[in-house]
Amino acid sequence: MKILLVGSGGREHALAWKIAQSPRVSRLVIAPGNPGMAQHGELVPDIKATDVAGIVNLAQSMSADLVVVGPEAALAEGLADQLARLNIPCFGPSAKAAQLETSKAFSKAFLARHDIPTARYGAYEDVAEAKAALAEYSAPYVIKADGLAAGKGVAISPDRQDAEAEIERMLGGRFGSAGSRVVIEEFMDGEEGSLFALSDGTRAVLFGGAQDHKRAFDGDTGPNTGGMGAYSPAPVFTPDFVKAANDLVVQPTIQKMAEEGAPYRGVLYAGLMATREGPKVVEFNARFGDPECQVLMMRLDGDIVPLLLACAKGDLSQAPVPNFKPGVVITVVMAAKGYPDSPLEGSIIRGADQDFGPHVQVFHAGTKRRDDGSLVAAGGRVLNVCAYGADITEARERAYEAVAKIDWPGGFYRTDIGWRAIGR
Ligand code: AMP
Ligand code: GLY
Repeated sequence: MKILLVGSGGREHALAWKIAQSPRVSRLVIAPGNPGMAQHGELVPDIKATDVAGIVNLAQSMSADLVVVGPEAALAEGLADQLARLNIPCFGPSAKAAQLETSKAFSKAFLARHDIPTARYGAYEDVAEAKAALAEYSAPYVIKADGLAAGKGVAISPDRQDAEAEIERMLGGRFGSAGSRVVIEEFMDGEEGSLFALSDGTRAVLFGGAQDHKRAFDGDTGPNTGGMGAYSPAPVFTPDFVKAANDLVVQPTIQKMAEEGAPYRGVLYAGLMATREGPKVVEFNARFGDPECQVLMMRLDGDIVPLLLACAKGDLSQAPVPNFKPGVVITVVMAAKGYPDSPLEGSIIRGADQDFGPHVQVFHAGTKRRDDGSLVAAGGRVLNVCAYGADITEARERAYEAVAKIDWPGGFYRTDIGWRAIGR
């Protein structure tokens, strides 16, 4: 079968690596892709992941049997809806269903309507009203811009003055149209993890958990990023916790979205806080996490394509149950110096494409191949060094051994990925 994969990050490189291993795939086309993905499929660098019309045309012209969408932006613009009209199966939700990620006001109202556990909240468009509402909460204050803000639209304010300043900034256009509404939330105390489920619109199967590292620097300091490293499984997700999360969050979400006329097809990413009262939803995403996807793909045993296709076609009932290898996979993100604010582009990377042995994979994200064949940085997060181990300690040693073999003076990485799991 012929598959079109959309995206160019480390998440999509990991998906391409896994999809390309499937004996069912006769052709894999990737738009726009990155240099690391060239070994797995045909790249179409001119069609960006946000170019809905271009992606739809490409899917039609190659007679794609399945379109797999990595990032959420095109989904929010209705990519899955347009493909559905052409009867092209799409792994990724409709624009309406993707609102679970793209509108925090939508997702919070949905959760409240169906008693799915999350933080108490209110949504406001008016600065004075939002400021007055702070009285109903206590410090630390959680203030969020509604809509897509590339994961950077959340402020945890230590005091009321700071919270008021955030409200002014967010409603004052700091995030463009994404900030025309703010959500104020109760602070949830606990450890956070990412739980994934695959859904065909009416059924959902769990697809593993992972823990990300959002801050740029060691010790969870520095600015928030898209994620500087991850590992799977996440020890904070005990079997009891996962059962509660499935019963109280995942299954009701899929069931109620279908009942409300917005069946959710694709991967549901539930950011969950493990609180003393049990799992609570921090956020949903309508896509795989990046870099969480990279560790899940390395742990997944067997062919991913039947699962993706079954979700896209709306019938998971005959698909194999996802099965993960025992052991642990960790990924260390190597980012360009200056990330996340102003990553330096163009620095030369040596050694990223060497053979690191059977336990290590290096996935590309923001890389570019120059005409002379050299590899250079072309984005914020640039490489994902992933390693498998029998336990977290072995996985981490292998990952950092591989990191040390990559010669890239223009990059940096955290040296403490996995500290929580090792601390246990
Ligand atoms: P979000 O984009 O909603 O995932 O928020 C970004 C990060 O802020 C989350 O990953 C959490 O670490 C933190 N966060 C968001 N909402 C809350 C909350 N209500 N209580 C505590 N932490 C939160
Ligand atoms: N790693 C967090 C995310 O993909 O949103």
